[in-house]
Amino acid sequence: MIVLGIESSCDETGVAIASTSNGLIAHALHSQISMHKEYGGVVPELASRDHIRRILPLTEQVLIESGLQKEDIGAIAYTAGPGLAGALLAGSSVAKSIAWSLQVPAIPVHHLEGHLLSPLMDSPAPEFPFVALLVSGGHTQLMQVNDVGNYKILGETLDDAAGEAFDKTAMLLGLGYPGGPALSRLAQKGNSRGINLPRPMLHSKDLDFSFSGLKTAVLTINKKMADETLNSGNIEQRKADLAAATEQAIGDILIAKSIKAMRQTGMKTLVVAGGVGANSYLRKNIKEQVKLINGEVYFPPLEFCTDNGAMIAFAAVQRINKNLINWADLSDSFSIKPRWNLTDICTFNNATI
Ligand code: KG4
Ligand code: ZN
Repeated sequence: MIVLGIESSCDETGVAIASTSNGLIAHALHSQISMHKEYGGVVPELASRDHIRRILPLTEQVLIESGLQKEDIGAIAYTAGPGLAGALLAGSSVAKSIAWSLQVPAIPVHHLEGHLLSPLMDSPAPEFPFVALLVSGGHTQLMQVNDVGNYKILGETLDDAAGEAFDKTAMLLGLGYPGGPALSRLAQKGNSRGINLPRPMLHSKDLDFSFSGLKTAVLTINKKMADETLNSGNIEQRKADLAAATEQAIGDILIAKSIKAMRQTGMKTLVVAGGVGANSYLRKNIKEQVKLINGEVYFPPLEFCTDNGAMIAFAAVQRINKNLINWADLSDSFSIKPRWNLTDICTFNNATI
């Protein structure tokens, strides 16, 4: 079956085509970064309106790229949650309308399942079971992934998500939106030596995280360093040093907890997914640490770390192939779930989508 996937949960419009026999076939993405940049963050109303403008042109683009006709499409997959309500509604209503006009089913997809399964799009793909570190703008979770739809949460953040910690620190340093990539770029020019940022819960016995204290520490140190460098004119270097220290603090916590999760579960395979998985410090150092315990780490292809339509079409295809879609029960309404726990769609809860 050919599946058209639509992602519109936040500030990227993604459309893709995947098939149950061959995986991903074509994908296209429109980022709204330039539109939101002047406001310093995502403006939900603008995001929704832009998704509506982009989805159909992107759909035409992937159809042309794939060489397929719209009549070849057997189902439409769309992100039903979690995410911004208006943005989700834009994607879901377009998806349902296309589905209705083609007389095919519309499949709601959990955005985090999309991220979680995205490393399976690469070759070689990780084999089940594995530990997954899911690090995005809104979520930070360690999960035991036994199979498609069979997920157990091992630990999660008690406050801010890792991406949020990047974004808020970037904001404090005046780096604007999107914060994570900007902070990481600046960190390349910095040197963290002598800057001692806390690594909250690093040594706690559980697999939970806490990042909210980090931005306060950055704020305090930034102020102290600003006073010290007041007359030296070295403000840019100070910011770069602090960016490097922040990136390392966040990265070190994520790495330590992932290794702990691998040790606790006895699993040798780790998968890193979500926007923060694009971070170069995290990628480099987690590879080294996992190697030390004779494990293997997998990432999605870099372009699929942040939000995209490919992971939505692909997740739907995985569910179809594992018989996890309740075709008779797919709703006709424009229902979306801005808040939606991943465990709600787990097979051991007897849940199908
Ligand atoms: O998965 P994603 O695209 O969207 C959500 O589902 O939230 O993740 C976005 C998050 C943002 O917080 C962004 O700052 C962060 O991922 N991010 C990064 C990098 N690229 C994106 N954080 C650190 N370094 C990066 N290179
Ligand atoms: Zn995401």
